[in-house]
Formats: sequence, C-alpha cells, structure tokens
Amino acid sequence: MSKGLFISFEGIDGAGKSTHIDALARAFRDAGRVVTLTREPGGTPLAEKLREMLLHDGMDPLTEALLAFAGRRDHLRCVIEPALARGEVVLCDRFTDATFAYQGAGRGFDPQVLSYLEKLVQTGLADDKALLRNPDVTIWFDVPPEVAAQRLAAARAPDRFEAQPQAFFERVAGGYAARAAGDPARFARIDSSGDRGDVAMQVMEAMRSRGLLCESACPSGGRRP
Ligand code: TYD
Repeated sequence: MSKGLFISFEGIDGAGKSTHIDALARAFRDAGRVVTLTREPGGTPLAEKLREMLLHDGMDPLTEALLAFAGRRDHLRCVIEPALARGEVVLCDRFTDATFAYQGAGRGFDPQVLSYLEKLVQTGLADDKALLRNPDVTIWFDVPPEVAAQRLAAARAPDRFEAQPQAFFERVAGGYAARAAGDPARFARIDSSGDRGDVAMQVMEAMRSRGLLCESACPSGGRRP
C-alpha cells in the first residue's frame, strides 16, 4: 500500500490556487493514486457549518481562531487521518498556516496561543499519538498583495476576509513568509504572479523535485503523453 501523503495549498486571497489544486488531483490520479480533495475551513458537515460562520458572521480574532481549530479537529478526525491511513493523497485547500497568517499576522492574534491550539488539535489522532499532524508539503502561492487585489476585484462578491483592505493582506502575506521561513523543507514557494500555465509548471516541478510525481505526469489534460 502507498504511504499517505498530505499536501496543503496556501496563499492570500486572489493568489489563484484553486485551478491548480484540481490539476494536481488529476495528475496524482493519473499516477494511480487515490486522492481526497478537501478544504479548510470545512471538509466535514460540521466544519462546513463553522466555515459559513467564519466567512460571514462578525466575531473577534479569538473566536475566529477557535472556530478554525474546532473545524480542523473534526476534519482531521473524520477525513484527513482516515484517508492518510488508507494510503491516499490528501490535497487540502488551506490548513493551519492560514490560521497563523490570517488570525495571527492579519488580525494580530497571539501566535503562541495559536501554537498551543495547533498542538492540542493536531495530535492524538494518528497511530502515533504524539505525532503533530501537519502537511508533508505546503504549496505556497506567493503573489504581491496588489496583484491579488486586482484579481479579486474582478471576481465574485467578497466574503469577510476578501473584503479586507490591502494592508490586511500585506500582513497576511508576511505571516505566510514567516511560516515558510520557519519550515523551509515543508514549503514549496510558487511565484503565482505569472499566467496560469507558468504557475502550473512550477507546481508540477515542485512535486517532481520532491519525487512525488514522475516526469510523465501531465498537469493540464490529466493524460500521459
Ligand atoms: P478560500 O480558500 O479563499 O476559499 P474560497 O476560494 O472559496 O474563497 O478560504 C476562505 C477564507 O478563509 C480565506 O479568506 C482565508 C480564511 N481562513 C482563515 O481566516 N483562517 C483559517 O484558518 C482558514 C483555513 C481560512
């Protein structure tokens, strides 16, 4: 049986990660892997309800952080850990780095408390009860906040986070950079200011250079040449 593989996707709103997650799912499926595609906030019926609150109801940063971690616990317990135990590839649109970036750097909430919650929520669920579950690889779509803001302006009605001013996203971007600096082996930085094809190539290269997908895996059509 294949070993489970946990990959998260991060970046400020407007960084353009969504299409690349689907393409990577196709590439892993083409390579014969079973893929669980999921997201945070959300990923379970309970956590999806919490997502609705987090994205649309007014609340303070502590409440935001607690809701994000409450949903994460349910998500890990019901979806992520079982999929990894079955040897699947779990592709998760955002995970804990988003809490550090948005609630920590963006909202100014105490990162030490976030670290405590991270330990509390992300341990005790795998076979190794001491393991602090975090992604094996985090694909970080890094884009200047002004470029992201232009992309968002052309998109649908904004949620509570997307409606924030650029200064907020500058702090969030700084939060991601700090998380990446703290764990450089886990983070694959993608320059996502270019066009979709260029970003797709970088994502596939990040996978190949880590030995996670072979040369023949195709990002766009999902077929091998
Ligand atoms: P996003 O991936 O942007 O969803 P969509 O593409 O459907 O808009 O995520 C939703 C928002 O949630 C995003 O603005 C970041 C925010 N968020 C937090 O503030 N804290 C968290 O812990 C997570 C996971 C997300």
